[in-house]
Amino acid sequence: MTVTGAWSRAARGAMLLDDAGRMSPTIFAEMSALAVATGAINLGQGFPDEDGPREVLDAAKRAIDDGINQYPPGIGMPILREAIAEHQRRFYDQAVDPDTEVLVTAGATEAIAASLLALLDPGDEVVTLEPFYDSYGAMIALAGARHVGVPLRWPEFAPDHDDLRAAVTDRTRVILINSPHNPTGTVLDRATLELIVELAHRHDAIILTDEVYEHLTYDGARHIPISTLPGARERTVTISSGGKTFATTGWKVGWIVAPPVLLGPILAVKQFLTYVSGAPFQPAIATGLRMPDSFFTGTAATLQAKRDLLSEGCAAPASASPARGVRTSSSPTRRRSGTTTRSTSAARCRGWRAWWRSRSPRSSVRTGATARARSSGSRSANASPCSRMPWRGSRACPRCRG
Ligand SMILES: Cc1ncc(COP(=O)(O)O)c(C=O)c1O
Repeated sequence: MTVTGAWSRAARGAMLLDDAGRMSPTIFAEMSALAVATGAINLGQGFPDEDGPREVLDAAKRAIDDGINQYPPGIGMPILREAIAEHQRRFYDQAVDPDTEVLVTAGATEAIAASLLALLDPGDEVVTLEPFYDSYGAMIALAGARHVGVPLRWPEFAPDHDDLRAAVTDRTRVILINSPHNPTGTVLDRATLELIVELAHRHDAIILTDEVYEHLTYDGARHIPISTLPGARERTVTISSGGKTFATTGWKVGWIVAPPVLLGPILAVKQFLTYVSGAPFQPAIATGLRMPDSFFTGTAATLQAKRDLLSEGCAAPASASPARGVRTSSSPTRRRSGTTTRSTSAARCRGWRAWWRSRSPRSSVRTGATARARSSGSRSANASPCSRMPWRGSRACPRCRG
């Protein structure tokens, strides 16, 4: 049976449908499966390998025990909407009315879907940076709109201003940006943001800004919410989420901050997608948003240190080279016998292990697994480095079994 319908537009928009109509899994599903199969560190899907802050987890448990288990209000629980408004004031000096300018959603993904479905008509154009979070393509296509990409150019992964000027026209209904950007890490600078506001005014477009990584900036980069720029607020829909900031991606608590004139139409659609979600998680995310500044700076610093550690580790095996020796064509017999993969991988892990040992005592970064191994005394500090890396849930490196 051939099943027709809007699904194929969504799948094609996310580039999951080939010319023969075959559907492939999302890039996240594909990469996560590959990571499990090969024992690779999974950078493909944006979820952390350790839990979020204790206070936030405890607040969710308390909420369940306190009976916050039924439908919350459609626009979100007051405690969370107020915390979101306070957060905007604290970090961006922005006054937000929690009753008319905030909408709680099932993650940023629902916020994106509801906004695009609400604001687009068939034939409208949406300009996004490229590469883009895959749900953008799916939702733009589902709404029957046309997706126009502006590439982030090497080596800065910044959009060229002339590309932006050429992409935004009177046909553009929405300019959808993502800063800090997944996957490049680009943080759009003020000049680019100003240009986007200028273009939005010139062509009467709405700015949709996905800021789920707002607190995860490195190397002193400063995130500037585009809605704080002169002339932006009245035409900007700002989307964020507790998932990345509080390492609670599975809770799917997101939100929108927008002027009432835009929020009303978005709510009209959102209420028929999920209506509401995650009652006990809403007060918990409110707790997170009210945590001291040190939490937010600490999270970014910890992730930056992990990034540095990982970068060093990725560079190390190439020069530390026990893996290289095995990887060269010196073992044709083994390759034919089908064992090369395993022994090559084992050698690579030994290279990684040597590097880790040399690096580990000085490291200020501890994965959750390391911390647990240390505190429990099991597989102590001398345990295989592979078992300490984020092979979450498994005791040993699935590649070398070390
Ligand atoms: C750029 C971007 N926006 C939105 C999301 C989804 O956020 P949420 O889990 O809150 O739906 C992700 C998740 O990886 C993302 O990378």
